[in-house]
Formats: sequence, C-alpha cells, structure tokens
Amino acid sequence: MDLYEYQARDLFEQYEVPVLAGIIADTPDEVRAAAERLGGVVVVKAQVKVGGRGKAGGVKVAKTPDEAYEAAKSILGLDIKGHVVKRVMVAAGARIAQEFYFSVLLDRANRSYLSLTSVEGGMEIEQLAVEKPEALARIEVNPLTGVDKAAAVEIAKAANFPEELVDQVSDVFVKLYDVYKGEDATLVEVNPLVLTEEGRIVALDGKVSLDENAAFRHPNHAELEDTAAEDPLELKAKENDLNYVKLDGEVGIIGNGAGLVMSTLDVVAYAGEQHGGVKPANFLDIGGGASAEVMAAGLDVILGDAQVKSVFVNVFGGITACDAVANGIVKALEILGDAATKPLVVRLDGNKVAEGREILAAAAHPLITLAATMDEGADKAAELASK
Ligand SMILES: Nc1ncnc2c1ncn2[C@@H]1O[C@H](COP(=O)(O)OP(=O)(O)OP(=O)(O)O)[C@@H](O)[C@H]1O
Ligand SMILES: [Mg+2]
Repeated sequence: MDLYEYQARDLFEQYEVPVLAGIIADTPDEVRAAAERLGGVVVVKAQVKVGGRGKAGGVKVAKTPDEAYEAAKSILGLDIKGHVVKRVMVAAGARIAQEFYFSVLLDRANRSYLSLTSVEGGMEIEQLAVEKPEALARIEVNPLTGVDKAAAVEIAKAANFPEELVDQVSDVFVKLYDVYKGEDATLVEVNPLVLTEEGRIVALDGKVSLDENAAFRHPNHAELEDTAAEDPLELKAKENDLNYVKLDGEVGIIGNGAGLVMSTLDVVAYAGEQHGGVKPANFLDIGGGASAEVMAAGLDVILGDAQVKSVFVNVFGGITACDAVANGIVKALEILGDAATKPLVVRLDGNKVAEGREILAAAAHPLITLAATMDEGADKAAELASK
C-alpha cells in the first residue's frame, strides 16, 4: 500500500525524522486558513499517489495566504497523470541550499535491502540512474543489522556528502531506516532531502510503501488506507477476505488456488479471441476450503461487476471435494436469489468429481452449464459473454 505524502510526513515525525510543519486541506478556504496558521512562505502540494507532481503544476510556493488560496484553486481538481487532486498539503516553506536523494527499499532480485543515495538532487531518480549512474550510491543494507550509525556513515561517504554534513545526514538515514523497519515498509524514499540555508537537513517530500503482508503486525495501518479511492468491488472483496483483482473483461472467473486461477485467465483470454475478443473480468481465488458462504461471497462480488456477462467457475477438488463445491454453488445461488442473473459455466475435476457433477445436474439450475474440461468451459463462458 502506497501512502500519501502527508501520511509519510506524519510517520517521519513519529520517528523523529526532521520534517516541516504541514496541514492538510480540501478547499481553497481551508488552505488560506492553514497558510495563516503556519505564517510566512508556504508550499501548497497536491496529495496524489504519483510522482512528478511538481512538473505537472501540483506544487506551488505561496508568499501570502491569498496566494496560497489562489494556488489551491489551481491545484485542487487538477488531473495529474490520471489522478485527480482532492486534497492538498500546506507545508511550511524551506529555504533550500541543496537538494539530495535518499531511499531504502526491498531489493527482491538480491533478496536483500538496498539504499540509494545521491547528492545530486532536483533530478528525477530514474533519469539520474540512467544519465549519471556514478552519482547514485547503491549500497546493500544487511537486513539483519540494518542501517546503524556506522552503515549510515558509510552510505553518506559513498554518496560523496561533504565531510561536515556526514554526521547530521547519517543520523537522518538511521531514522529513515527506523521508519522502514518499524513500519514494515518496502520503500521509504525522500526526494528531496534538503540542506536548508540554516544548515539543517530536512525531509521535504516522502514516499512510503507498506508491506500489506505485515498488516497483522500494524493494526493502525488500516487507518492509512484510502477506501474512497479504492475500487468498490475490490473493497467489497477485501471485506469478505477474498483474493480478488478487478480486470477489464467480460468473463467473471472463480477458481481455487492461485495457479489454477492464473491459468484460467490465460485459457479464457485465448478462447475469447474466437468470440469477439472477450477477456477475463477478474482474478478471484476462493482458496482451498471453499464453503458455500465463500462461494456466495465470491459470486456476489463478480455479479456486482456491471461489465461481467458470464461467469466461469473452474474448481479442482482437493481437500474440499467436488461434491462440497457443487453444494456450495447450488447454495450460493439460493443465497443470492434474484441477484444471480448471469450464466455460469462450471467445470469440476479432481476429488469426488462424479458426485459433484451429479449434484449440479440434479439441481438443474437454469443459469448453470456444466463443462467437461477447462478448455470447453472457457470456450462456453467466452461464447456466452460475447452474446
Ligand atoms: N516545503 C517546501 N519548501 C520549499 N520548497 C519545497 C517544499 N516542498 C517541495 N519544495 C520544492 O518543490 C519540489 C517538488 O516537490 P516534491 O519533491 O515534494 O514533489 P514531487 O512530486 O516529487 O515533484 P517532482 O517529481 O517534480 O520533484 C522540491 O524538489 C522542492 O524544490
Ligand atoms: Mg519529490
């Protein structure tokens, strides 16, 4: 989960990373009031989860509360790479002497952590990495020992920080790593980290991604979630503990086991080519022990997708045998009643397949078509979706 800049700023503050005051605001009037409270020069900053806000006109310096009001009028509602600005942060203005870059992230390729640091601020890091790779210090961080003071000093020196800044900036690196570790983040990035005219090192921007697999250790992270910005179907799925990802097509997919569901997506996309280019509408893995309730919840989410025209249920009976799954489907349709309106193609295989098919045949539900194989089921579902 990516955080907004203001949420990253708040976390930084908790971990004593030096930041400037910031107040969030949703209207130009609130922005004016925030600028009055902060006093002096402020910076009005679009809160969107995308980079390059500055260049897109989403970061504006304001010398007076009235200027801040005007800046807010131009930033609120602005579309930055498909993200519409609904909220801004009014930040105290810094007098910047120099801009730097620092990040620590999960380096999957090397199964380790990595810090990226540069004294060349102001440039986008991707561009810097390509055009001036020598200006970017890439130092592996040992996950067992982390960024302690000694490691932080090594990073600062590798990035060619001037001698007189090494002590101060390395303290900030240690604290930023504390955020990374303490919050189970996969990325903590500060661009720019600045040296102010007053000689202080301050984080002027913050990007933090949290590892959702560690959410159970951080009950407070749920509050950071922006449920309003989330896809309503994904939200509903999450509330039901379903492993669901919304895609763009017309064939709803339910399967058990991530591998089976992934291959079902492929097979349906392939079959769809013969039926006007219909595509899978979602990924949904109902897992091993698929009870009727889970099946109903899954169907409910998929049928709530207006784009869905047909549903392909592709289940391989294992510990939960096919008869249980078949009963689950029949019960799920009972639970859903009139809410179930779209044709279902069901392919069952594996443990107790004969019993499962018998149950579905006996139920003779008008919406259900049985398929003998995965290919046949995919083809049938694609055909139904193309009608
Ligand atoms: N509080 C502040 N005081 C003074 N200048 C600021 C402040 N916040 C940001 N800036 C200036 O605005 C620039 C862009 O801000 P920021 O890094 O937060 O946005 P961004 O989305 O990363 O934009 P970009 O990708 O264009 O750098 C900074 O590099 C800095 O020069
Ligand atoms: Mg930035």
